[in-house]
Amino acid sequence: MTRLPTHIALIMDGNGRWAKARGLPRTAGHVEGIRAVRRAIEAAGKRGIQYISLFAFSTENWRRPETEVRDLMGLLKRYIKSEAAEIHQQGGRIVFIGARARFEQSIQDLLRETEALTANNTGITIIVALNYSGRADIVHACQELAKKGGVIDDEAVKNALWTAAYPDPDLIIRTSGEERLSNFFLWQAAYSELYFSDVLWPDFDGAALDAALESYAARDRRFGGVSAA
Ligand code: FPP
Repeated sequence: MTRLPTHIALIMDGNGRWAKARGLPRTAGHVEGIRAVRRAIEAAGKRGIQYISLFAFSTENWRRPETEVRDLMGLLKRYIKSEAAEIHQQGGRIVFIGARARFEQSIQDLLRETEALTANNTGITIIVALNYSGRADIVHACQELAKKGGVIDDEAVKNALWTAAYPDPDLIIRTSGEERLSNFFLWQAAYSELYFSDVLWPDFDGAALDAALESYAARDRRFGGVSAA
């Protein structure tokens, strides 16, 4: 691989369609989606990617049927508990972005404990977006800046975002054939390369990741300037 992204972000779409195609309930698609998350983290780590962001639950996802939201919260609790120890053992660091106050207390505690457990690890950083949206991130940053006062410029906004401590994503991958950002990293995506895959999220694997990385390696990133070549 010639040029590798430092940070990849994943918009994991298609769990519902994956389940429907098999005559299964939507939750079965989410369960399989979690397996795909595990595979993606492992594959990204092996390839030397330093940051992986996961759009796991958006501010808009609360609009789903109550039973599906309840199932997702249950999976979230179970998944974080079972995976955090494994990721910790492999030296990965887990952090969460988003408005976490909306989650029940036991989930908020779990998020804090998971971050504390893995805080000093130096392996891949896994940024999990929960009750996150790009607009909510920007609005929250503006509110913080207004409270603080002082100069508001690019740097000040960047530093007030939930992602302040991480580099912008080099590559954003969305699965399932949809070609939009759906309110994910709006500020952070300014110069991200976008890659759309027809693969449904539960089928995402190392080969699908490699296809995205190959596409990325062939892109000419100019950041508004001119090509180096
Ligand atoms: C999925 O497809 C997407 C999500 C609801 C976000 C990603 C969630 C997971 C990978 C499961 C793990 C996350 C949690 C919070 C436990 P969709 O349901 O939008 O699929 P569709 O577009 O085919 O209906």
